[in-house]
Amino acid sequence: MSGGGIRARAPEPGKRTMAEYDIAVIAGDGIGPEVTREAWKVLDATADVYGFRTRRRDYPFGTDHWLATNELFPDEAFEEVRGMNAVFLGAIGDPRAPVGLVEHGVIMRMRVGLDLFVNLRPIKLYDARLCPLKDKRPEDVDMVIVRENTEDAYTAKPEYTDKGGPDEVASQPMRYTRRGTERIVRYAFELARARSHLGGKERKLLLIDKTNAVPAQDLWTRVFAEVGREYPDVKTDHAYIDAACMWMVKNPEWFDVAVTTNLFGDIITDLGAMIQGGMGIAASGNIHPGRVSLFEPIHGSAPKYAGKSVACPVAAIMAASMMCDYLGEKAAAGAIEQAVKDLLASRRLKGVGTGDHPTNEVGDMIVAEVRAVAARV
Ligand code: IPM
Ligand code: MG
Repeated sequence: MSGGGIRARAPEPGKRTMAEYDIAVIAGDGIGPEVTREAWKVLDATADVYGFRTRRRDYPFGTDHWLATNELFPDEAFEEVRGMNAVFLGAIGDPRAPVGLVEHGVIMRMRVGLDLFVNLRPIKLYDARLCPLKDKRPEDVDMVIVRENTEDAYTAKPEYTDKGGPDEVASQPMRYTRRGTERIVRYAFELARARSHLGGKERKLLLIDKTNAVPAQDLWTRVFAEVGREYPDVKTDHAYIDAACMWMVKNPEWFDVAVTTNLFGDIITDLGAMIQGGMGIAASGNIHPGRVSLFEPIHGSAPKYAGKSVACPVAAIMAASMMCDYLGEKAAAGAIEQAVKDLLASRRLKGVGTGDHPTNEVGDMIVAEVRAVAARV
């Protein structure tokens, strides 16, 4: 799962070489900058404790920058980012820009331009009181949704005939390639195999599609079966997307790893975020194994809460944890996760909702707890 790659650095005589990572930071719109500030507060403190460094490079892209300069993501900056180890994104989107413009110019540009074909979305409940479902415990909600991230309607060209007229037809096909499907399915099998030792519940890989209504998706069915033959040790299952939504609410404990298309993955992971405690805690990684990859909270920019210090930064902090994991800093990643878990379980963190704590207080608490976690081991 890791493989961000470390920049080679000549060791100084008598000193242990310290890993250093080049990270592009796009704090973005709305609450993006304030949650990013907390995530970096935690990341810097954690790096200090676990002995690595980050070289951070900030980029101003987002709606303000677009309004001021008409620029979304200039090629020169894009090429710079391509050479880094990771990208951290706060949030993008603002009603002052046309719908989807900045999202496409920044997030989609990186997902497609950097070929970040895996959108990894862990759904893990850290404390029972955060779950809106009756009687569900942390052991019941622990899954990973592997969302394809470069194909589907998301990257197909929208087409219109008779636009605005009475015979208007608008289309944007759900297009899948064998190569695109195979690489995400293979990634999901690898992940399911890696999690199979975790025990606890039945471990398996679930394919989610809608082949009963969209027969072209049988490409996914066929590829899943073909790749699955190489993983006889991984148990597999299948659900249509509508049923998968139903099961996720009724029996989330049945889910372990699930793989699905870009659009279905987008939708079901918002549902997943709610059962783990909401948008204040859900994080994701946009990954191309071995190359620069992007980490972000799932939530949007929530412009109405911007600058009020009410946004919950835990999702951004969990994205920083995922980034550490990707970079190979497993102990640091685990410590951040453990700190969040401990603070929630002990109720020092009242919740992950808007206004539960001042934004900066949450970062401070997690920094202190990361130090406490590190001191325990
Ligand atoms: C997400 C978001 C994006 C998506 C938007 C902002 C384009 O909803 O990361 O899930 O649809 O993928
Ligand atoms: Mg979404």
